[in-house]
Amino acid sequence: MRAVDCIVKKRDGGSLTRDELDWLIDGYTAGRIGDEQMAAWAMAVVLRGMDDRETADLTLAMARSGDQLDVHDIAPLTVDKHSTGGIGDKTSLVVAPLVAAAGMPVAKMSGRGLGFSGGTIDKLESIPGFRAELATAEFRAVLRQTGLVIAAQSADLAPADRRLYALRDVTGTVESLPLIAASIMSKKLAAGADCIVLDVKCGAGAFMTTLADARRLAATMVAIGRHAGRRITAVISSMAQPLGSMVGNALEVREALATLRGHGPAELVELCLTLGSELAVLAGRCADHATARDLLRATLASGAAWRAFRGMVVAQGGDPAVLDDPARLPRAPHQLLVTAPRPGIVQAIDGAALGHVVNRLGGGRSRKGAAIDHAVGLEMLVRLGDALDAGAPLLRIHAAGPAAAAAEVPALLAAITIGTAPVAVPPLILELVR
Ligand code: URA
Repeated sequence: MRAVDCIVKKRDGGSLTRDELDWLIDGYTAGRIGDEQMAAWAMAVVLRGMDDRETADLTLAMARSGDQLDVHDIAPLTVDKHSTGGIGDKTSLVVAPLVAAAGMPVAKMSGRGLGFSGGTIDKLESIPGFRAELATAEFRAVLRQTGLVIAAQSADLAPADRRLYALRDVTGTVESLPLIAASIMSKKLAAGADCIVLDVKCGAGAFMTTLADARRLAATMVAIGRHAGRRITAVISSMAQPLGSMVGNALEVREALATLRGHGPAELVELCLTLGSELAVLAGRCADHATARDLLRATLASGAAWRAFRGMVVAQGGDPAVLDDPARLPRAPHQLLVTAPRPGIVQAIDGAALGHVVNRLGGGRSRKGAAIDHAVGLEMLVRLGDALDAGAPLLRIHAAGPAAAAAEVPALLAAITIGTAPVAVPPLILELVR
């Protein structure tokens, strides 16, 4: 077989066989196929798509590209949550400790920033000392010690996704339903969770901008998970505007810490309770969703979720002083307030455009493996439907310097549409796929 033949076949709209996909993924993982050919193949998939059989075969090939974890000797049942990517989406930082503290061990593999969206691993690495690159033995040790572990794909677990994910980030090949489904589900299958809840984002700040596409992605991933014998549901949630007010790595950690302390924005808390209660019911921890929400609310209020997060951070080498005093998280040296150019009502917020701004400020990568600036980002000061006077605060830029901040003002003003029509704000939870 030759990689170029697989690329041409997909470029011309063909379906790759299971053998071809296994060969391609094995070759890429082993380094026999290089980034240039894999990027060309990924672009062909973006443009031509994949059928359901190919998507499932790709997922399984990626899940098998390294070790497949079995942690049942440590925890009889583990749970996991994964988002398809959004703006300001710090949900994993809250849901994972919340459900772990409520008695459901979490063994989670997460990603770094991808395209215009941020990633849980980059966010956690804002905490000085935090180590996300764990070998399988360490992953298991942290789970045993704390009941909660969040790690990047290692050389051992789903390494094909680790390489392909970083490549897609910088080659314009993120927005593809089969590539997203295979990326997420390969990690989930390899990490061995028994119960999985997927947060499928939909809207201007997500890779799926229409409800029809979000439904297809949710259904594809749920089918793959069920086929692999996992208990799995999906929540389709709105990305018509950023989740919470902070966008950017350290800023989002700060907001997640406030949420774990009981001071989170209402919509973030609501989404975390919804996702967490799905897991509690899947895991058989609670008989119904109402009971599960009560349990999770009490877990948050008691400080147990906060303590679970702290325990995990310490076990993974992070500096606990930063958690006790979030003012010690990395801070950008320059802040610039952007104000409304005219009076009116906030009609639309282009989340993808906000994400691109954060990347240009240094919060994301333009080259594979590049270092990022954890401190930069945006603090949103308006929500959809807000009525504003001219000159009212819209958002605050956190940047490395005045020139970097000023350069983004036109893009930010263009990302927030102010008009006169009344606005119907979509509900946060659009659909449940159980
Ligand atoms: N999250 C992932 O892990 N992979 C994707 O492709 C998108 C979101």
